[in-house]
Parts: sequence; C-alpha cells; structure tokens
Amino acid sequence: MTTVLKGKDILHVKDIKLEQINMIMETAARFEQVLDSGGRLNNMAGKLLAMLFYEPSTHTRMSFESAMLRLGGQVLSVPDARASSSAVKGETLYDTGKMIDGYADIAVIRHMQEGSARELADGSSIPVINGGDGSGQHPTQALLDIYTIQKERTRLNNLTVTLAGDLKNGRTVHSLSWLLGKYGPRFYFVSPEELRMPPEITKALVDDGIEVIETPDLSTAAAKSDVLYMTRIQRERFTDCEAYERLKDTYLINNDLIRKAKSGITLMHPLPRLNEIAREVDDYEGAAYFRQAANGGPIRMAVLALLTGNE
Ligand code: CP
Repeated sequence: MTTVLKGKDILHVKDIKLEQINMIMETAARFEQVLDSGGRLNNMAGKLLAMLFYEPSTHTRMSFESAMLRLGGQVLSVPDARASSSAVKGETLYDTGKMIDGYADIAVIRHMQEGSARELADGSSIPVINGGDGSGQHPTQALLDIYTIQKERTRLNNLTVTLAGDLKNGRTVHSLSWLLGKYGPRFYFVSPEELRMPPEITKALVDDGIEVIETPDLSTAAAKSDVLYMTRIQRERFTDCEAYERLKDTYLINNDLIRKAKSGITLMHPLPRLNEIAREVDDYEGAAYFRQAANGGPIRMAVLALLTGNE
C-alpha cells in the first residue's frame, strides 16, 4: 500500500485514485506536523528534482522547490525554459524526457500547451508531474485545494462549491471539478457565457449524478455555497484583446459580497489574483487563499516523496 504511487506520473487528476488521494493528504499532514513542531526531514537526501518551466509561475515553482529542499533533496532548474532551453533549437519534449532520465530522479513541467506533460512523460522513465499544461490540467493544485477544503471545512463530502471566473481556460478549476466530483458536491459554475466550463467536463459530472448549476450570477451562488473558489480571467489564453478587456472585470468579491454570501463561506483562489478579490477581504476569517497557497508546500512534499518511494 505504501508504494502504490512509486514510479507513477501525475499528469491528470484522473490518474489519481481515491485511496491515493487519501495517502497524499495523510503524508502531507504528517510532514506538516514534523515541520510545525520544529523537526527536519531528510526523505529526499541525494535526490534531484528537475524543474522545466516554459511558462511563468511563482506559486507552483516556489512550492515545489521549497518542498524538495525541505525534504533534504536538491533542485535542477532551467530558468525561463521557453527562451533558454534546447526547445528554442527544436528539441521535442519527448527527447527532453529521454535526456532528463540521466540527470534527475523526478521532474515537474509547466508548459503552455495542453498535453505537453504527457509528451515529456512518454520520453522519460522518471516520475513526471504536470505543473500546469495550457488550459488543460494542474493536478497538484487540485490536491492542495482539497487538502485546504478538508482543513477549512473539516470534511470534503456533500459540500456546495462555487467555481467562478474563467472556467473555460482555467486549468485549476478543470482539475478541481474532476477531483471534488469524487466527494458528492453540488456545484455552481459561475462565469460569463463566453467563459463557461468546457461542456465535456460538465457532462461527465452530470453523468456521474452530480448537480451542476451554471449561471453568470455570483451573488446568488455565493449565498448558497460553503466554498467559493474564485479564479482570474486568463489573459494569456485570449487571442482577442478586446474580449479580454470586456471580460476581465466581470466579477469582484468585496466585503459587500461577503456580507450577502452564506455565513462562514470559505473563500479560495489559486493565485495570482488580479482585481477579482478586493484586498479588504483579506481580513475576513474565511479568506483562505494565502493558507491555501501555503498548503502547496506539504502537499508537494508528499507527492515528491510518494512518487519516488521516499515517504
Ligand atoms: N496557482 C498557480 O499555479 O500559480 P503559479 O502560476 O504562480 O504557479
């Protein structure tokens, strides 16, 4: 049971079974407890993590690097891989995957194209983690999101959850909706018409018996929800600048909206935020987005340790 994740890739949340999610969350909680009590961990001593980031990142990149260092391992990073790696000379991700086998024990890739993590993993025999592939998936973000919900709400089952913002292009909500779907939620999907959740995701959830209400009305959804997960409008995915300008300020969560929301609502955001959550909301006790970001540390420690068999 303890080696069930050893040697695996995490490319899509569908790759992760319920018992594996539980194992990741239990391992994360154990690591967090050790660090919180001032202890040190050395599980990844002598191991190397390769970081291949072709797209900008602060949170995913820093939390993976911090996770590896806190486990006593080391990090190999290609700074600004889009501009400075051999991809510029035409190397395929498949060949890059072949190459990193000789240099590292585990790899994380962030890339602008959907399916890129799978191409790297096809070439590589070390575990590959998808750190975000275009508008596709961001599975470790979804893992830290449900870890956060468990901590904030003390349960995952039977919650009413609003996912709001750019549901078309946001990979975090694509991954989170698949993963939370295992826990019998009721979903509100709140977006402008142009940025609705991809229909194949909504259909799969509905086919699984999950109630999904699609609406552009944030206030009504917030009044009914235990968790409100806000996302930014993803400027980098727009080809039409006018459409981005028209849609970018569709939603604003401020103290007025929190007053109208369900009492005790948990407010989450994968970050970075732009204008969609006012800074005044940061003092609201249910504003969990910075705690959520911090939970990326233990969750990514758990993923690195479990995939390499060093838990
Ligand atoms: N949440 C998230 O993926 O943020 P970054 O783009 O900064 O990694």
